[in-house]
Amino acid sequence: MRMSGLYSILFVIITLTSIRRRETIEAASCRQDFSLKFAFCSDKGFRFVPTDLLPDLRGLFLDENFLTTLTNETFERYPRLRELTLDNNNISRIEEGAFSPLKNLFRFSIAYNLYVPTLKKSMFSSHSLADFNTAYSNVKTFAGDIVACLAQGTVLSLSGNNLRKINWTSSNLLSDIYLDSNIFRQISKESFIFNNSVNMLDLSRNPIEFIETIVISSFHVKHIILTDTGIAVSQVSNFFHGIRLSMFIKGFDFTGANFHTIRNGFFAPLKGKNLDKVDIEMNSIDMIEDNGFDGLAGVSQLQLGLKNLEEIEPSVFNGMMALRSLTLDANRILTLSGKSTPWNISLIHLNLAGNEFTAIDDSAFHGLKTLKTLDLSRNFKLQRWWVRYQLFLLKLCFIGYEEIHDDVDRGEFEYDIAIMLDEADDEWVNQHLRPALMERVPDFNRIVCGDEELMLGMYYLDAVHYATEKSFKTIFVISHAALQDQWFMMKFRTVLDHVNDVGTEKMILVFVEDIEDDELPFLIRLFLSDHRPYLVWPDDERGQDYFWEELIRDLTVNLRCNHLIPPN
Ligand SMILES: *[C@@H]1O[C@H](CO)[C@@H](O)[C@H](O)[C@H]1NC(C)=O
Ligand SMILES: *[C@@H]1O[C@H](CO)[C@@H](O)[C@H](O)[C@H]1NC(C)=O
Ligand SMILES: *[C@@H]1O[C@H](CO)[C@@H](O)[C@H](O)[C@H]1NC(C)=O
Ligand SMILES: *[C@@H]1O[C@H](CO)[C@@H](O)[C@H](O)[C@H]1NC(C)=O
Ligand SMILES: *[C@@H]1O[C@H](CO)[C@@H](O)[C@H](O)[C@H]1NC(C)=O
Repeated sequence: MRMSGLYSILFVIITLTSIRRRETIEAASCRQDFSLKFAFCSDKGFRFVPTDLLPDLRGLFLDENFLTTLTNETFERYPRLRELTLDNNNISRIEEGAFSPLKNLFRFSIAYNLYVPTLKKSMFSSHSLADFNTAYSNVKTFAGDIVACLAQGTVLSLSGNNLRKINWTSSNLLSDIYLDSNIFRQISKESFIFNNSVNMLDLSRNPIEFIETIVISSFHVKHIILTDTGIAVSQVSNFFHGIRLSMFIKGFDFTGANFHTIRNGFFAPLKGKNLDKVDIEMNSIDMIEDNGFDGLAGVSQLQLGLKNLEEIEPSVFNGMMALRSLTLDANRILTLSGKSTPWNISLIHLNLAGNEFTAIDDSAFHGLKTLKTLDLSRNFKLQRWWVRYQLFLLKLCFIGYEEIHDDVDRGEFEYDIAIMLDEADDEWVNQHLRPALMERVPDFNRIVCGDEELMLGMYYLDAVHYATEKSFKTIFVISHAALQDQWFMMKFRTVLDHVNDVGTEKMILVFVEDIEDDELPFLIRLFLSDHRPYLVWPDDERGQDYFWEELIRDLTVNLRCNHLIPPN
């Protein structure tokens, strides 16, 4: 979760750096970035922290090495460090003063070190710690005084440890606290002393058997995650005033007996409880009475695991006004029909993957006016032609139906390619891009290029949106000049919004010149940090050959969203 975000940003920095041959040196075989003052030393087989890195280093990434000991001297040479990552080593000894030179430490991560000694407040001299990660490190106690010194807005991750108790009496304002996958059995006055104001508290995947109402109702927490904890509906009914809650509901009563029917009123105790995301697993249920979900009116995401249910009527969801995402995957549903009563909720995402549908009635999706994605993958009995036809009628972006992916889809678009560029790059497009496309993919000949070819009679940004929507792929040509142009960035935002909406990789960035990371606008960095496709135009001929090959590959495959039906 947190880490993956960090990694993806690192990934991009590393790739951009290597592709653009920025000025770097290889010290102690780490790649160092002079402008960022970062040293990337991951997975280098180090047993000790290298001593010959830039003295004013701000970021040091040492994950996946063989460090075992951190001494008082280890970081003395790098007093300016703000980010330090030590994940996936085997650190078992840390001298009391090891981190004291790091007065500005901001992001600290020592996850996945199974023998890490207990961390104490006295070890840290920084007052700006705002991201503290010691997940999956066999932590049995975590002192409240460290929590008390964390900066406002901190993310603290203690996932996957062996915590059964906490005693944190501080009241500072933190952002997210991950305590998932620990061994908390009780949330009680004795075992869970917690007084921080927090946006999100993740307690999922703990074997919690008992929650003391008075404890949880005194929390200053906006959002609690209780997925996979074994808490039953009747147990949550008395607390969580004003707390947004994600939870997992299992289908047993107190005696362990299974329910067979979700009766009208089953969830009524949850009425007004500010639930946000609910994951219900009740394998024995074979019937849902009308209004069975009453009480869940505020839930925005509902995941149903009802392995015995063979038929579902859209009307059972009536009244779930906030519901936007419904997942009914891996059930055994055979039929879905909206004939007698169409849908009357504002769903955006509907996931019906992994069921046993043989056919879905024409009326199955009646009433789903706001639907944007539908997943019908892994329904092996459904006919391909039927799915195609339905989706065509629905004009949906359809995710996850592998077999349907083929090049013919391109024919359903009005254009093969839309090219977005700044005037300044006309020359590059005319001299290089267009001839290469003509030579290498002659059948991609329906091209809308530049502002002049946009649809007439539309507002500018509407026309940009139209061109992207109607094209199979959109190429964005990026240069210094383009980045200076406000309109160009508005175009970029318009296209990015559309691409995010439909969920395909239809947008490709082409840098025609070298641009430093820190000159890139936020939106473009955001796009790149998502591992989205981009290419940099190289000077040499061999590089250019490779460039065209990559571009053609990006143009001809459609990842992630396998099938896209253009609106008429
Ligand atoms: C990691 O450190 C512990 C304790 O010092 C040791 O017992 C273990 O063998 C080490 N593991 C590896 C893979 O080096
Ligand atoms: C390391 O520093 C701490 C104080 O910051 C000191 O108490 C300790 O004795 C030092 N250890 C060594 C081995 O120098
Ligand atoms: C929690 O810690 C405080 C000191 O910070 C201590 O006074 C108190 O007894 C502790 N409570 C429990 C239940 O351990
Ligand atoms: C919890 O914090 C509040 C301030 O946010 C404070 O008034 C209260 O005394 C604290 N409670 C405990 C048990 O520390
Ligand atoms: C649809 O739901 C709304 C709000 O819950 C309700 O007012 C309306 O009568 C329902 N429409 C039908 C056709 O049931």
